[in-house]
Amino acid sequence: MLRAPPERRRRSDIERKFDAENLIAAALHATTASALACQPFLGRGDGKAADAAATDAMRRALEEAPGLGTVVIGEGEKDDAPMLYQGEQLGRGGEPFDIAVDPLECTDYLARGIPGALATIAFAEPASLWSPGASFYMDKIVAPAPARDAIDITDTPERNLARVAEALGKSISELRVVVLDKPRHVELIARVLAAGASVSTPSAGDVAGSLAVLLPAGGADLLLGIGGTPEGVMTACAARALGGGMQGRRAPQGGAEAAALAREGIEVDRPLSLDELASSDRCLLAVTGVTSGSLLRGPWEEPGGRCTESIVVSGGTARRIVESDVCWSRR
Ligand code: FBP
Repeated sequence: MLRAPPERRRRSDIERKFDAENLIAAALHATTASALACQPFLGRGDGKAADAAATDAMRRALEEAPGLGTVVIGEGEKDDAPMLYQGEQLGRGGEPFDIAVDPLECTDYLARGIPGALATIAFAEPASLWSPGASFYMDKIVAPAPARDAIDITDTPERNLARVAEALGKSISELRVVVLDKPRHVELIARVLAAGASVSTPSAGDVAGSLAVLLPAGGADLLLGIGGTPEGVMTACAARALGGGMQGRRAPQGGAEAAALAREGIEVDRPLSLDELASSDRCLLAVTGVTSGSLLRGPWEEPGGRCTESIVVSGGTARRIVESDVCWSRR
């Protein structure tokens, strides 16, 4: 006689919390492994070799993760760099989850030995992260929680600045806006300055720029402009986890990218809501410092061993975590 399958048991809150903490530990294991693996390449001008070392170390770390993670979006295709590929599955097996990843964010900073390189990864509920297909670049607008409903990527920068200022109870002249220093942003930067806001223009690193907006006391009020899609999806996880606001829109930066999107029949101009980029609050972002910068310190030596500094954003909180060899050997 055929028996009805047993009802899937609902997991208790304690079990869920345990799973979440295990995933946080796995994410930190992955980013610290990457951050340490690329140290020999610091300031040696070889970004590709550093990317390869960071990617290999992260892949090995993720093989030990509890559950079964699927890479939904990774870095590599855009720059023809070593990568964790879309669809790659990693982990010991069990509960599924989505992965968005850039093992070495700001490769150029590491290669040139200057501040601001990070190892980054986001985990989220299965099938909850936006899969960009052939999109490597997207336009982004990111705002802190109190201004989450004040942003509209289809509107002008001037009107977004005015609404964000009002939501934050500031004047436009008190706003600090992050825009990557790229030729494509010359007009945008000029318009933000003309509107009266101040602008920070790092040459790379819109995950760090977005965290400056989303973290309490991060020092920035808004991020605008075009950057990578993996960085966009990881930022969306941070925005979800911290209750911030984000919207995106594909922004192909070359004929080949535009042609690939056209072949796929994708509507390039359609705005992407935060819900589309990351549809569940059950997500986390972990970042570890690779070269010391304003957000995080790069790895350093202490008598007890090597130490790393990381930030984990999940469930409405951001934690700053310093670890040493002692903790890694216990994992
Ligand atoms: P990588 O060094 O990891 O490729 O990314 C650095 C970065 O500045 C990202 O933060 C940003 O989203 C993207 O590159 C922008 O791409 P590009 O430098 O090609 O304009």
